[in-house]
Amino acid sequence: MRCRETVIHVTGRVFALVSPLIVALLTLPAAAAEPPEIVCIQCHGSMPGRIGEPVKLWKGSIHAENGVACNACHGGDPKDAANAMSPARGFLGAPKETAIPAFCGRCHVGVMKDYLASAHGKALGKGGPTCVTCHGNHQVVKATLDLINEKSCSRCHSYERARLIRAAMQETEGMIVAIDTRIAAYKGEGTDTEGLEKGLFAVRNRFHTLFHNVDVEMVKKESAGIQGYLKKIRDQLTALDNSHKKRKLAGAGGITAMLLLALFAHLLRKTYD
Ligand code: HEC
Ligand code: HEC
Ligand code: HEC
Ligand code: HEC
Ligand code: HEC
Repeated sequence: MRCRETVIHVTGRVFALVSPLIVALLTLPAAAAEPPEIVCIQCHGSMPGRIGEPVKLWKGSIHAENGVACNACHGGDPKDAANAMSPARGFLGAPKETAIPAFCGRCHVGVMKDYLASAHGKALGKGGPTCVTCHGNHQVVKATLDLINEKSCSRCHSYERARLIRAAMQETEGMIVAIDTRIAAYKGEGTDTEGLEKGLFAVRNRFHTLFHNVDVEMVKKESAGIQGYLKKIRDQLTALDNSHKKRKLAGAGGITAMLLLALFAHLLRKTYD
């Protein structure tokens, strides 16, 4: 009897000791679902200076956010530390200045085409900017019109033409943001906004491919065309505003009529009382 009690007692204690471990084991798969750190980051991350720096810069980038890691740009084997930087495993190294557009252009094909055809692309290797001059190499963030600023664009020439491009694009950007806000408000109320959203998405994509040709006249002309489309979407929204107003007015009218009717009935009853 006593012996059995002790066994139960001991088992209970063992269980009490083990249970946190079981809990830990049960929750482990969730933690293990994170992809293991690639060898490029393990090794470079532990190094000082220009060899370690890219890891810190890359961590806050739009590429890190989208899973574009070291090997996606530089090639190499991210799983085998001993052969990671072997050319046999596709390692490309760091590109020279003139090779940068093709290096980035493997993924950003349309942008590269526009760039190569532009005054900037034609001046590649002869004082023109590369992708990295404007976007950085490891700390690339979401592109906005703030990239066009006096400090950055007057490094090589006057800011005047850049200012004109920014002004044309800023106006269009303002229209896009305003329309986006109005569509979002209707969507929030449960109105079907799919058609409007698709229209804006297409226009926005066209707009964001505009910059890299850096041709003031072309940007102005294209901006006018894009603004034409945006005005059409704006007209549709205004029509939607008006039909909503009418419905609200019709609703208010109905209520007034009912109130009048009630008042009339009340007065009628009073007269007969
Ligand atoms: C075991 C450590 C280690 C690993 C793993 C490693 N690197 Fe390196 N890497 C270095 C060192 C050290 C240097 C600088 C000396 C040199 O160029 O060999 C370097 C240099 C580089 C350079 C600069 C080369 C140049 O031409 O200037 C790039 C780019 C690079 N590594 C990318 C990668 C990528 C991508 C991976 C993963 C596929 C990777 N590294 C894995 C240690 C490592
Ligand atoms: C979006 C593409 C891209 C990604 C992702 C990227 N690199 Fe680079 N890296 C470049 C470019 C471009 C250069 C050449 C930079 C230049 O000339 O300004 C470069 C240069 C380097 C160099 C040489 C630096 C020097 O000063 O000589 C090292 C080392 C390096 N990268 C390591 C890494 C590591 C490690 C990672 C991952 C954490 C990484 N890179 C991710 C594009 C990238
Ligand atoms: C002279 C500066 C400059 C150069 C050179 C440059 N860019 Fe850009 N890039 C910009 C600006 C400014 C924008 C933002 C335009 C906007 O908001 O519509 C941008 C936008 C982008 C975008 C976002 C486009 C989109 O569809 O949303 C990508 C991707 C990009 N650049 C990649 C590149 C690549 C790759 C290269 C080299 C082939 C390059 N850029 C060269 C300034 C530059
Ligand atoms: C392996 C493919 C790949 C390479 C190489 C690459 N990128 Fe990207 N890049 C992406 C992806 C994926 C995104 C995130 C999705 C998007 O916005 O298109 C992105 C986003 C960007 C953006 C932000 C776009 C936006 O919407 O605002 C810029 C700017 C950019 N990259 C510039 C560069 C530059 C500069 C290089 C070269 C140093 C480069 N990329 C190399 C795949 C790549
Ligand atoms: C690294 C140097 C450099 C930087 C930085 C630079 N440019 Fe340029 N840019 C050039 C060169 C070189 C030319 C061709 C010669 C010329 O027209 O001045 C040029 C030409 C231009 C042109 C005239 C294009 C044409 O077809 O007439 C515009 C517009 C322009 N750049 C806008 C910008 C903007 C906007 C920025 C900043 C986002 C910028 N540049 C940053 C070097 C640069």
